[in-house]
Amino acid sequence: MIALYIFRQCLKLRSAKEMFLMTNLDRRSFLKAARAASVVVAASSSGAVRAFAGDTSTDGPFKLPPLPYAYGALEPNIDAQTMQLHHDKHHAAYVKNLNAALKDHSQLASRPLEELLVKLNDVPEEIRMTVRNNGGGHANHSMFWEIMGPPSGTGPDGELKAAIDKDFGGLDGLQAKFNAAGGKVFGSGWVFVTVDKDGKLALVSKPNQDTPLMEGGRVLMGNDVWEHAYYLKYQNKRAEYLKAWWNVVNWKAVGDRYAAAKAGKLAI
Ligand SMILES: [Fe+2]
Repeated sequence: MIALYIFRQCLKLRSAKEMFLMTNLDRRSFLKAARAASVVVAASSSGAVRAFAGDTSTDGPFKLPPLPYAYGALEPNIDAQTMQLHHDKHHAAYVKNLNAALKDHSQLASRPLEELLVKLNDVPEEIRMTVRNNGGGHANHSMFWEIMGPPSGTGPDGELKAAIDKDFGGLDGLQAKFNAAGGKVFGSGWVFVTVDKDGKLALVSKPNQDTPLMEGGRVLMGNDVWEHAYYLKYQNKRAEYLKAWWNVVNWKAVGDRYAAAKAGKLAI
């Protein structure tokens, strides 16, 4: 029960890095606590599991989108526990914090997320960083769940494949450049492939929860290289996570986003 208590305290923090900085747990102790907690989850009744998963509802205009597949659907590339914590805790916290920050700013809160992010200068300075971090986090993770799915063994096709061939020299070239960029992100951040209205692709890295949306760009796809996205399974081996992640890219969803971007209909 002590291990479960420690793990629950860890869940209140925003990232795996913070877990280590803000508690006296070393990494071995953290993983031991995580394993103990997962046993409790597995052994609990459905009611207990719901309580442990946390409250995914949010008050306010911004909503946590449901995960479009089961927590374990991306195994063995991304483990079920990471997916559960990532969606139910981390993403939920971004949504909750964004709504809280805009509680007394109904006009800003009524804006579409992509408009809020590209016009951050409209946000009062005292809440601007909160909106930037949590609004960016909400947009990034909403995209992230959408462009992943159970391993299908398929790759890009049609216009998307042609664009990848043209701008990256093929899928192998894209993966090599993308993984190298992911390895170079210092600390927490994201690697994105952006797409413009002409369908041209580009590689962009961002720190924290920043997103190309903040410059009016559009994100075709992206990978989360915060430690909370991979640490339970991969620990410090980010390169292995980056490599395995390609197995769960949903190329149908990415192709749909590519078509939407060219039609001027891609939002976040
Ligand atoms: Fe994340």
